[in-house]
Amino acid sequence: MKRSFTEEMIKVIDDRFKKINIDVSNFGWFSCPATHTATEKGRLVKDELKFPFILKSITLRKNSRIGLFKKNTIPTSQRGEKFIQEYFIKECDAITRAFDEIHYNVLDVHKFPLLDTRKPDFVIVSKQDPLDPLNVVAVGEIRVITAKHGMFSNADIGHATSFGEKLLQLQPRRPFVYVVLTNCRVLMLIFIDRSGNSNLKYQRTPLAKLESDNGSAAVGWKQFVTLLSQDPETLGWVPSTLHHEDKEIKLVRSIGTGRTSVVYEGMYDNNKVAVKMLKDTKFIEQFRWEDYIMEKLANLNSQNLLSMELSHLDTNDDGPKFIVLSPLCKRFKTWRKEDISPIIDTLRKVHELGFIHRDFRKWNLLRDQDENIRIVDWGFSVEVNKPVLFAGSLETLPNEVLQDIIDGKKIKYTKEIELISMVRSIYLMVFRPPLERIPFGDDDIKEWAKVYKEFWEGHSQSSIWSKILDAAKQADYDGLKSLLMNLFL
Ligand SMILES: Nc1ncnc2c1ncn2[C@@H]1O[C@H](COP(=O)(O)OP(=O)(O)O)[C@@H](O)[C@H]1O
Ligand SMILES: [Mg+2]
Repeated sequence: MKRSFTEEMIKVIDDRFKKINIDVSNFGWFSCPATHTATEKGRLVKDELKFPFILKSITLRKNSRIGLFKKNTIPTSQRGEKFIQEYFIKECDAITRAFDEIHYNVLDVHKFPLLDTRKPDFVIVSKQDPLDPLNVVAVGEIRVITAKHGMFSNADIGHATSFGEKLLQLQPRRPFVYVVLTNCRVLMLIFIDRSGNSNLKYQRTPLAKLESDNGSAAVGWKQFVTLLSQDPETLGWVPSTLHHEDKEIKLVRSIGTGRTSVVYEGMYDNNKVAVKMLKDTKFIEQFRWEDYIMEKLANLNSQNLLSMELSHLDTNDDGPKFIVLSPLCKRFKTWRKEDISPIIDTLRKVHELGFIHRDFRKWNLLRDQDENIRIVDWGFSVEVNKPVLFAGSLETLPNEVLQDIIDGKKIKYTKEIELISMVRSIYLMVFRPPLERIPFGDDDIKEWAKVYKEFWEGHSQSSIWSKILDAAKQADYDGLKSLLMNLFL
């Protein structure tokens, strides 16, 4: 039976996420900034900070709607965080509208993974700026306080702190960040500073009262309004530009996060580029390897690969490490008949050059302005036929290789393995069968190999898919091309 790859067959990504330009295709592979639990992290944040700004003196006009957090209007903690959250945002709207010196909006983002996978409850963003992680000036979290403690728990503090840390990661040049932690009745500012050395420094202000008993402004309220009246720079925000030797790259917006990197749209030399920035120094070797491979691949002059404009990895500065890639691409959504032949040719050339990509999947494919597919992310690539431990895509490996993983053996990545992986990933992209993804941090690769092996034993068994897989097994590039193209009407 012939099948066509129609748009409908590929479920498009939730609109909500598209709006804020976050790549949600690689859920489950994001890294956490640290291995601490929230509670452990909360314990780190113990040094006291005096409220860092001079309190604004504010004369309140009677009956004006300025978001005073009046005691009897605040939802009780029994009603749950959702109500408190909505109330908080409403009061903030009133505040940000009431004062000319406040140039920010306080936005409810608790539903979006705005900061990589992280969802702080609210962010403070300049009124004229679009909602993008690069534009977030400060973050905040709403938590209830249980009567027993009378204070935010270490877990709450740690949780809020991790949003600040994430922001520091996503805004590579900013020196520090403030996080607001509140239950609408009291608030605390958490200060995370990375200037000086590479270790973060944490401080927090004592709880200050936000709610108003009698219609007059409480200290915490004044602090909050004062905070909102500060310049972005005073709050640690900096415009995002990167430098390499005498060259400048301007970061325009965030476009994606992968396993090892945060990726931005950038402007370099009057061209739109992608800037792939290291998330964590522990991935530096993978980045260096990608850098090395990209240089080799440049010889192929392929329309299906990216070119590396520059690499800022082996430098002594303690600033962000990054590579600049072009062209800037769009998301890859669906396969087209005309994609098949060039992609297989490109894989053939890469294999002839002696490398295997190893991570051929949807989110490592992009489409450029001329509609070419670009295969990105060469960080997991290996030399052909060299026995190595497993890394890269697991779910699309041939059954024999999954068995080797179950048996704890090394894998010799051959061109046949890559072609089968490609076929299987096309199968997954087209039919979207329910297939569990490995949750981040789950190291039990053997168990997952069993799950996937079982999956494939029950899928792609029709005669046409068996033929396609056979062609892949024979490394019959041309046969594979025509069989795959035949899938299209
Ligand atoms: N040239 C580019 N144009 C547009 N987006 C890109 C580009 N390169 C990477 N991205 C986006 O960044 C994401 C992560 O990039 P990738 O190279 O896969 O990094 P990682 O090694 O962290 O997985 C991609 O899935 C894609 O959404
Ligand atoms: Mg990737």
